[in-house]
Amino acid sequence: MKKILAVLTEELEKAFCVCGYDEKLAKVTLSNRPDLCDYQCNGAMAAAKQYKKAPIQIAGEVAAQLQNCDKFQSVQAVNPGFINMKISEEFLASYVGDMGKDDRLGCEPCESSRKVVMDYGGANVAKPLHVGHLRSAIIGETLKRICRFCGDEVIADVHLGDWGLQMGLIIVQLQEDQPDLVYFDTDYKGEYPQDAPFTITELEEIYPRASAKSKQDGAFKERAQQATLQLQQGYPPYRALWKHILQVSIVDLKKNYENLQVEFDLWKGESDAQDYIPDMISDMKEKGFLHESQGAMVVDVAQETDTKEIPPCIIQKSDGAVLYATSDLATLIQRKQDFAPDRILYMADKRQEMHFVQVFRAARKTGIVEENTQLLFKGFGTMNGKDGKPFKTRDGGVMRLETLIGEINQAVYEKMMENRSVSQEEAREVSRIVGLSALKYGDLSNQASKDYVFDIERFSSFEGNTGPYILYTIVRIKSILTKYYQQSSEQEEGVLLVPSHQSEKNLMLQLSKLNEVIETAYEELAPHRICAYIYELSDCFNGFYHDTKILGEEDQQKQKSYITLISITKKVLELCIELLGFQAPERM
Ligand code: ARG
Repeated sequence: MKKILAVLTEELEKAFCVCGYDEKLAKVTLSNRPDLCDYQCNGAMAAAKQYKKAPIQIAGEVAAQLQNCDKFQSVQAVNPGFINMKISEEFLASYVGDMGKDDRLGCEPCESSRKVVMDYGGANVAKPLHVGHLRSAIIGETLKRICRFCGDEVIADVHLGDWGLQMGLIIVQLQEDQPDLVYFDTDYKGEYPQDAPFTITELEEIYPRASAKSKQDGAFKERAQQATLQLQQGYPPYRALWKHILQVSIVDLKKNYENLQVEFDLWKGESDAQDYIPDMISDMKEKGFLHESQGAMVVDVAQETDTKEIPPCIIQKSDGAVLYATSDLATLIQRKQDFAPDRILYMADKRQEMHFVQVFRAARKTGIVEENTQLLFKGFGTMNGKDGKPFKTRDGGVMRLETLIGEINQAVYEKMMENRSVSQEEAREVSRIVGLSALKYGDLSNQASKDYVFDIERFSSFEGNTGPYILYTIVRIKSILTKYYQQSSEQEEGVLLVPSHQSEKNLMLQLSKLNEVIETAYEELAPHRICAYIYELSDCFNGFYHDTKILGEEDQQKQKSYITLISITKKVLELCIELLGFQAPERM
């Protein structure tokens, strides 16, 4: 369906034209004085300069032209030259009614669909998933859903960190703990065991221990670096150990992402790009892009127009080891080969911005990525605790994701038990669904690039701008609908009548904005737009609910129209939360 602002703008364009003014001036926007009108057009002000006439005169002519237009209830010229419009209630009701009959609720897919690779999640194998990775997963998942809904073909890749120093650290720590393992026997020539010599619990304990040790013990760290290099060069026993680490870790990661309802199409990692590196480096050398700087091989990426220093992109260290940027460049080669995407989108902490600037520039300069592929980095802010510092556990450690989810579910559970509307078992079950909404909405309702304060108390509240409030609204609608269909012989939705009071009109007006909001969220890659929209929509619904006897209404036509309206509201809310990556329970 055409966006309502576009429909109204067309009417204004016709009127501007008839009156002899440029139709480009006829843009209709939402009113910033909703107490006076629903929409406005400020084009007469601009026309005044162009046509050397008083703006109010132009506004008056245009308004007069629109007096019989069926899209408006009233069009008024207001000093100094605004055109204020109230929408026709028949038109509004039929527009919202049409949305309700459309599978996509009036949202058209975008005109030219793109093929997009999305790189998010980015968990590091063998390190427990922590809150630092939470934002990437939550934001990336939503953007994937929004882009898919708008018609893009999206390939979601978790891009695991599976090739770094953590592997070497684990290997040398394991060697200290269990020196008798075959992997450390240099004379061993046989096959390596199928099963890993550690469980996930052990693995999670080994890494932090090794990491702490490497900070104190320089020799240990050097051995870990050496082991990492050996692994990267293909030393068989370390490769075998690395495979075990991956296996054990990925099972656990999958479980974690599943709990978050975050899904990937590809489970690739940095390691998958390694085969592309040797050719990439020799190609860069051949073309003269690579040069030595302080012992390392680098590509210069600074540009004359830079206002701050952009250091060279380091491709290879003097010992032959490759770096994070090298992996990302090689991954670009792989992605181009596998998918030829129109766009590659990365979601990572905004502190990685410099890394991506360097990688993108190096990729363009060396011809790895051509003009027709857009590279985009979506950096997000830090999740802070109430003290304004990066979120930590009470004892100052890195909070594990499972712990965090557990705490938020518990907070929701306690709120539900206060209300005592459901049994303990049901509350446990439902608190998981509602907890996820608290977590995701708490994150997504902020502009992604900003830091935000993670406040379990606030996020899990059933009132205010929170996930649970939105779900509560949906559940309330579900319950009215269930009661209606139990008591009524009517089993289908009907026609929307014109709104009978202001709060009903407000609800319709808010519903009618959906396609506009989704398109903006898609174009700006900004899920917080959807959150702001459904928060306002929920408020509109609750205002309507407060003012209207729905189940007690005696006029059956009217009642059926109310039911249709709230059912459309439910569908719109459900679509939006689906895009945000969570669902509503039946009761709460
Ligand atoms: N593993 C990285 C980290 O934990 C994030 C990966 C982001 N994606 C990428 N292609 N560099 O910081």
